[in-house]
Amino acid sequence: MKTGSDNLMAKRWPCGHVTGDTVTKHECVEGGSIYVREEHDPLAYSASLRGKHARWSPRLSVSGTGLKSALDRLRSRTRTRGRVPAPAVAPAPAPGPVFENRTHDLTSPTAGLLNAQGFVMAPPSPANALRLFDGQWSSRFPPPWGDLPAGKIPLFEDARISWLNEVAGVKNKTVLELGPLEGGHTYMLESLGASAITSVEASARAYLRCLVTKEVLGLTRARFLLGDFVAYLRASGDSFDIAVASGVLYHMENPAELIALLASHCAGHVLLWTHYYDGDLLAEREDSGSRFGPARAASFGGFDHTLYEFNYNEALNWSGFCGGGEPRSAWMSRSDIIACLAHNGFGHVQIEFDSQDHPNGPAFGLIASRER
Ligand SMILES: C[S@@+](CC[C@H](N)C(=O)[O-])C[C@H]1O[C@@H](n2cnc3c(N)ncnc32)[C@H](O)[C@@H]1O
Repeated sequence: MKTGSDNLMAKRWPCGHVTGDTVTKHECVEGGSIYVREEHDPLAYSASLRGKHARWSPRLSVSGTGLKSALDRLRSRTRTRGRVPAPAVAPAPAPGPVFENRTHDLTSPTAGLLNAQGFVMAPPSPANALRLFDGQWSSRFPPPWGDLPAGKIPLFEDARISWLNEVAGVKNKTVLELGPLEGGHTYMLESLGASAITSVEASARAYLRCLVTKEVLGLTRARFLLGDFVAYLRASGDSFDIAVASGVLYHMENPAELIALLASHCAGHVLLWTHYYDGDLLAEREDSGSRFGPARAASFGGFDHTLYEFNYNEALNWSGFCGGGEPRSAWMSRSDIIACLAHNGFGHVQIEFDSQDHPNGPAFGLIASRER
């Protein structure tokens, strides 16, 4: 069966750029074949401009001093409190955040917040809680909390989760989320009506930021677990309607195992957003191309494929590092990812958010479903 998204979306580019290119490419994979549909619609582009450029900065990521000065501007205290409002679905933010180097001083992350006894003596506020991780936040909080001193990436208003809801319907579903980072997607899933969300995060700092998010935004149906999601999935007998694996596959040493584990714990749909290896595309780039080691043949669960060693290098020293738990990972090719999903029973794949020139490497998003 050939299917595709009916949404008109101007072509997205890294860092939230929306170009003048009015071509929207929709892809669907069915039974191993890829179907492509292109739409040309100048109105879609101008509509998206009205929505997006009014709210998103041209580049959604800033580095070093740029981030610091942006944080300084945002550091006004707010007393905003409340429960979870309906999520802002549009405008669509940049799919695939760009996490860049941070140069803040880790030795005094809470300077000015704590007194000598480690107490916060200012009146209680959400901003106090966020400032425990001053300079470490990647995500920007959603309205009406947008002025809280957090990050810049709009992960609380992410088009990938909105797309998942359109395709799979999140309401009353149980959801497994891998690597929530700061709970932005978790917040959206709860706001969209998920009945229960289990989010597994291995980074201690990210986990604690998720708990801050949970408390500040009043999440009640999300549970954050601290630990390795691969170990969790190997040991757990839990099953979920939907799995969200955004920004995690390319951090794995054995990505085919993660796909198999996802398939064995997910009864319905898997949202996967990931970078992938493409030798031709990466050869054109000095930056990420040089991070790859040799290719090697691999096999997991009867699925033969090729792995491309990826080294984090200096990124491991970044205070905002949000990669995997090992110094290196292994990337798969795009076709191997799709074939691996099919090998594990997820033969129906819809593709969106194609970004061949994403600064961190070629990337795409997909929703995989079991064959009907
Ligand atoms: C690139 S961020 C993606 C964040 C978010 N899901 C998104 O799509 O924007 C990767 C997240 O996965 C977490 N992570 C990486 N490997 C993990 C593992 N083995 N177990 C649990 N969390 C992991 C990282 O700490 C980080 O929070």
